[in-house]
Amino acid sequence: MNMIDTKPEISLSHYAGEIRQGNVVAFPTETVYGLGADAWNADAVAHIFELKGRPPDNPLIVHVNSVEMAATLVSEISEDARRLMERFWPGPLALILPKRPEVLDIVTAGLPTVAIRVPNHPIPLRLIEEAGPIAAPSANTSGRPSPTRAEHVRQDFGAEVPVIEGGSCQYGLESTVLDLSIRPYTILRPGHITQSSLEQVLRQPVRMVPSFEGETTGAPRSPGMKYTHYAPDARVRWMRPDELPRPDFPAAGTLYLLHRIRPGDVPIRGDRNLIHYGEDYTEMGRDLYDRFRMADLKGYSEIAIEPFGDSGEDVEALLNRIRKAIGG
Ligand code: TXA
Ligand code: MG
Repeated sequence: MNMIDTKPEISLSHYAGEIRQGNVVAFPTETVYGLGADAWNADAVAHIFELKGRPPDNPLIVHVNSVEMAATLVSEISEDARRLMERFWPGPLALILPKRPEVLDIVTAGLPTVAIRVPNHPIPLRLIEEAGPIAAPSANTSGRPSPTRAEHVRQDFGAEVPVIEGGSCQYGLESTVLDLSIRPYTILRPGHITQSSLEQVLRQPVRMVPSFEGETTGAPRSPGMKYTHYAPDARVRWMRPDELPRPDFPAAGTLYLLHRIRPGDVPIRGDRNLIHYGEDYTEMGRDLYDRFRMADLKGYSEIAIEPFGDSGEDVEALLNRIRKAIGG
C-alpha cells in the first residue's frame, strides 16, 4: 500500500491554510485532479508552472464556488454566461470571459480573458470557501495524461506536492472549455457538457474547434491546444481492421482497448491485454488516463484502440483525448 497523504487528522482546513500561505496543494475534482494555488498570489501560481514544467503561455483555470466569486474575476457576466452558470455550475464547464484588470497576468498568460469554473466536488468547494479563488491546472507534469486518482499525482510529483485523497474522479476527462469572449461562442476543448446541451441553453449555434486546429493554424485560440497532451509513453494508435482475424492476435506488448468487439469475439489467451468496455463510453472515459498510465507501468509499447465509427456526441470528448494522444 502506498502512503496516503491525507490522514484523517489532516483536515481540509489545514490544506486551505497551506493554500492561503502560498503553497501548492493537489485535490480531486469531478473531472481530474487539480494542482491548486491561491489565484491572487503570483509566486504561488508561478510555482505551479515550475512544478508542472508548463509553458508560461498556457493559462490556468480559476476555480470558484459561486457566480458571486466569479464576478470578482471577470469584468462582466453577460445574460448568456449567467444562464450557463445557473444551468451547469457546479460542474465540468469552464467559461472564458473578459478578465478584470487585477487578475494576475501569470494566471491568464497575459490574455485579456480568464477561464473560470465551479467544480462539483465537496473538497475543492471547501478549499475555495476557506482560501478564495484557486488557480489550478490538471495535476500532471506537462505532457503526461491528467491524473484521475491521487496515486497518479504521486507518480508525477512524488512527495513534492501534498495530495488530498478523493478516490477516482467521476468523469476522468477534463472539463468542457467554452470561449464566451468570441462569436460564435466556441468550444476550445470538448468535455462532459456537450455542444448540443450548450446550444440548447444558449439558443444559438456553438462552434467546436477541431482537435488539431491549434497545431495547424499556428495561432490557437486556446494556448494549451498547441502542446502535446495526454500522451503516455506507449504509442497510442487505432486498431487496424485486419488485426483481429490474424492468428497471432492479440500481439504481445500491445494493450487493446475495445468497446464493440465482445469478449467472445476474441481468443481467450489474450484476456490480459484486452480491455472490454462494452459500449459504455462513460466508463471508458473515466478509465482512459488510468489505463494509459498502467500501460506504461506494465511496459506495453503500444495501445491499440478500436475505432468508434459513428457513436455520436457522447464520445466527442473521449475521441478528442484519444486523437491528441495519437498525435502527440
Ligand atoms: O477539468 C478541468 O478543467 C481540470 C480541473 C482541475 O478543473 N483542469 C484543467 O486545467 O484541465 P488545464 O490547465 O489542464 O487545462 C486548461 C485549458 C488549457 O487548454 C488552457 O489553454 C485553456 O484551458 N485556457 C485557460 N484559460 C484560457 C483562456 N483565457 N483562453 C483560452 N484558453 C484558456
Ligand atoms: Mg492539463
